[in-house]
Amino acid sequence: MGAREGASSVDGGSDERKDDASSSVTTEVRRLRRALHDRGRARTLRARAFAYDFILKERLGRGVSVKRRLVHAKLRDCLRALETWQSRAGRLEVDLERALAEDDAKSLQIIEGDITRVLAEFEAYLEEREVLEDLPKSVTGGDVSVPDAANESRSTLELMRCVREDENVADDAVRLDAVCERLRELETDDGWRGKLLAEVDGAAAAHGWSSENFSYGSTPFSSWIELFVRCPELKIRAQTLATDGLAYVVFGSSAGWLVFYGAFALGASSRGFEILRTLHDAATSARAEIDPEWKDSVNIEFNHADMLSASLENVGLIVLTSLCWDDDVHEAACAKLDAELFSGAFVIDYGDKLAAFESFTTVTDDPIRLPVSWGASQRFYIFKKVA
Ligand SMILES: C[S@@+](CC[C@H](N)C(=O)[O-])C[C@H]1O[C@@H](n2cnc3c(N)ncnc32)[C@H](O)[C@@H]1O
Repeated sequence: MGAREGASSVDGGSDERKDDASSSVTTEVRRLRRALHDRGRARTLRARAFAYDFILKERLGRGVSVKRRLVHAKLRDCLRALETWQSRAGRLEVDLERALAEDDAKSLQIIEGDITRVLAEFEAYLEEREVLEDLPKSVTGGDVSVPDAANESRSTLELMRCVREDENVADDAVRLDAVCERLRELETDDGWRGKLLAEVDGAAAAHGWSSENFSYGSTPFSSWIELFVRCPELKIRAQTLATDGLAYVVFGSSAGWLVFYGAFALGASSRGFEILRTLHDAATSARAEIDPEWKDSVNIEFNHADMLSASLENVGLIVLTSLCWDDDVHEAACAKLDAELFSGAFVIDYGDKLAAFESFTTVTDDPIRLPVSWGASQRFYIFKKVA
């Protein structure tokens, strides 16, 4: 017994030492991640690109002009710099993830050196190309910022009342706020973003698609609800999904945002299909955190799957988050809807490829432009399956 005790205490000791070592690797990875992201370059560049996009679409008139050309060049510089940053930081994130998984303290020193070098090189790149230099106000027509969208100051409850008036609406607004709060926290977590970046390269290689096909983005509830306000036919379809026993589906559901909107605001059975594990896990863990008292009453299903394998049976409304998809991925999704979606179903798409199909008709004369996380004036197209 004594010997056993001795043996077990030695084992226990080595386990503790291992735990200490791995917790020091975890702490060190956290520190390096902070160093990598502390300057918030991706955030700044995204905000700038967002603002230049807004200036082009909403402030400067159509047609060719010197002002448009200058703003366009700035937008392109910001997007290029963002892409450069994402690929450099993404590579380092992959290394950090690997060090964490292999519990490898030694490689962290090399990664630290790489981070210092990449940060210095990137600052030099921004300076050399004057990416963050302001254009004169006479060109941009005011500050390089985006005014708040009309809906942004309205509460979730007020917005939800645009599509429903039943007595449970207030409770569902509180629930949706809680889920969105949780997802927003996650979005700003560098560790989580790093894990996501690290997964994208592998997924792109595995499927033969570009890394952009897996870009992260989110659409605010205020924009999503505005689609129903601006398109009454869509609103009627959405309001009757639950009573008609039809589902609301999101292709490319990301961390679950649009699925939660549908479940809480429309009360419809809501399903998401997302190919990236990190995003799928974020959605399911946000779902699991829903208060146990009401989680069973909400009909939400998240599928970690290629959307092209989804069943479209009994689907009354589907969202294609196609903005970043490769052309062949978007085309395959459209062909699937052409072949499988029932006549009478509606589609919200971030692109207009369905216009080429005779089985679909556009429901609004012009696309609806609304702010999303990657641009101030994203076009949304509403289609109806007619054959
Ligand atoms: C622009 S993002 C989604 C935006 C988001 N849902 C929103 O709230 O605006 C597009 C998503 O499609 C996913 N995706 C790309 N190809 C896919 C596929 N074949 N099957 C499922 N998801 C896919 C990407 O991983 C990415 O998360």
